[in-house]
Amino acid sequence: MPIHYHAQSRSFLLQGACSTYAFFLHKRLNTPIHLHWGKRVADAEALVANRVEKGHCMSPGPGFGETTPSLDEVMLELPTFGSGDYRSPALDVSQPDGSRILDLRYSSHRIFSGKPPLAGLPATYVESNDEAESLELELLDRKIGLRVYLLYSVFHDYDVIARSVRIENVGALTLGLDRVLSASIDFPDSAYHCLHLQGSWARERYVRRSPLQTGILAIESRRGSSSHMHNPFLALLEPTTTETAGEAYGMSLVYSGNFIAQAEVSHIDATRVSIGINPFQFHWELRPGESFQSPETILAYSSCGLGGLSHQYHRLYGRRLCRGAYRDAPRPIVINNWEATYFDFDQPKLLSIADKAAAAGIELFVLDDGWFGHRDDDTSSLGDWFADRRKLPDGIEALAAEVCDKGIRFGLWFEPEMVSEDSDLYRKHPDWCLQVEGRRKSMFRNQLVLDLSRAEVRDYLVETVASVLHSARISYVKWDMNRNLTEVGSPSVPSHRQGEVAHRYMLGLYQILETLTARFPHVLFEGCSGGGGRFDPGMLYYFPQIWTSDNTDAHRRQQIQYGTSIVYPPSSISAHVTACPNHLEGRSTPLATRFHTALSGGFGYELDLNKLAADEQSAVARHLAFYKEHRDLFTYGDFHRLISPFENDSCAWIYVSPDRRKAAALYFHGLKTCNMNWKRLRLRGLDAEVLYRVGNQMLRGDYLMHVGLNISEASGDFASELWLIEASV
Ligand code: DGJ
Repeated sequence: MPIHYHAQSRSFLLQGACSTYAFFLHKRLNTPIHLHWGKRVADAEALVANRVEKGHCMSPGPGFGETTPSLDEVMLELPTFGSGDYRSPALDVSQPDGSRILDLRYSSHRIFSGKPPLAGLPATYVESNDEAESLELELLDRKIGLRVYLLYSVFHDYDVIARSVRIENVGALTLGLDRVLSASIDFPDSAYHCLHLQGSWARERYVRRSPLQTGILAIESRRGSSSHMHNPFLALLEPTTTETAGEAYGMSLVYSGNFIAQAEVSHIDATRVSIGINPFQFHWELRPGESFQSPETILAYSSCGLGGLSHQYHRLYGRRLCRGAYRDAPRPIVINNWEATYFDFDQPKLLSIADKAAAAGIELFVLDDGWFGHRDDDTSSLGDWFADRRKLPDGIEALAAEVCDKGIRFGLWFEPEMVSEDSDLYRKHPDWCLQVEGRRKSMFRNQLVLDLSRAEVRDYLVETVASVLHSARISYVKWDMNRNLTEVGSPSVPSHRQGEVAHRYMLGLYQILETLTARFPHVLFEGCSGGGGRFDPGMLYYFPQIWTSDNTDAHRRQQIQYGTSIVYPPSSISAHVTACPNHLEGRSTPLATRFHTALSGGFGYELDLNKLAADEQSAVARHLAFYKEHRDLFTYGDFHRLISPFENDSCAWIYVSPDRRKAAALYFHGLKTCNMNWKRLRLRGLDAEVLYRVGNQMLRGDYLMHVGLNISEASGDFASELWLIEASV
């Protein structure tokens, strides 16, 4: 059993595969005090007896006598503000008397097998109750009748704990939730580095690592989506932690809207890390009898470096967050027309792309933006989800049928959350977008955001998208979202509850996605948000793959995909081979490098194969044959990062099959440099004892991992190499 309660010390030990998370109920405070998160230990009594507590140091205590520590100087499972703990709270509740003081005392707990779903929110799940065990700890503030349930679920086979918070108003007062974080964890010291994923449009999820300092390091989104700029993830690492060694603690939030993740080093050099819905301008009214559910956060621990942490997330997210028919299935190789045509296409042009793609062995044709309303550019038609008959005289149904007759499947782009001012939908329902009366509506890409907090808007979107999906042979949907939220207000929500709209938008979106993915289980839904603006665990629950970035330049993509792989499984990272010079960066990279980069994710093409020279077309044929032969390795293999493009001008990684009998190592050069020193690539994840065939050599796993493969001098800028490594017998 992974969860143990020791009645005598009133302690809880949550045992992951190799890790322990522990806390106990303080006798006098009667509140949960954190004890340990890290390598596995079994002795709960010792943890309680030797817990860290400092004496009073200008921080008042709760007044149960001098021996009771101040709340500022203990490690709290659920910190609140105003009674001695001056650090950032996890929960802040405004009360009718103007007070925000909370006094949450232990009330009860229950331990049960399995893991319950979270109402209205995406979350990790179990397929049978013996996969996980859960602890629900109930705390009560008697004065106002506020019940707080802390939920911890421990998966048997992983070093992860899912944490979330549910709040119930069992009193008679209307309360205001101003801050409800999903988890807050105190560490007794501050000798850590903080690692997070930072970026912008077209350069998402760069790896940033810096030592903690006194004060607060916060990353957040206020944009209404998880954003290109920051990802809802934060890790603490020991200063010496590398890819393969040292301790790493991760917090990843299963949410796609405004979030905050922060590390705070206090006056006694203790660290508090916390993550959850961004409290900035958040205010949720909780009336008597109502409850509020926070998103869940996945805490992952590794004593084997950052690579070990990533493996925990890859395995859990790939197997128990992603859902549906495509969770475990090989993904189709797609060809998308966006970079091939942008808005400038008609039926014959599309069919010529699909024709060539089908002949080459590509498996699914995706029609991107521009097929609906009268959309020739980005100034119109979002919301009018019916085919533009000027471009597609016989509609989507006929186009899909013609594509499918070529032996490949058909996919379609939508951006359902948006509306253009120049659209029938907006002319009919100008009140359906987010807005604040008497204020201008800020624009981006000539579009406004629909108010998904409104039931009639959600119903309209579900029925509209569903009717298109019913009308044609559509096996794939690309669900795009190309702007951040502004003037986040809803006429349908009372004025004093406008602070709920950003979260209600997310709940509305999740409801739409739940309905559509359940109604169309055979459809592969791919997420997208102006590239990778909403690449987060919340989206992975509905979309097993996500378009990673609008930047398809192979060299830049290596950085973006490398950073994304810190948390997200490679099979979720969509990547396409595109034309050169690259449309965004203007860089030319070899076709082989573009292939090697794209096969390191959800593989596809985004160009017109008709426009390639004959030798490039034969190369594409070879690439497709290679990928199909080894697709399982790239879909199900363990992914190890070998060389970071953030610390070198090159980059490398390896896929290793779960039985370690087959691997593919990829090395990407930067700019060519003459007369360089010898370079070797040390591999990882192989079986040291096994003899592998690499090209025309037989090499043992220990040689490959401890000495490495010789890297030849690059033939030119941005060259790459792929080695297939197969066990000899
Ligand atoms: C942004 C996406 O990231 C692109 O791939 C493309 O679908 C465009 N939107 C279409 O408007």
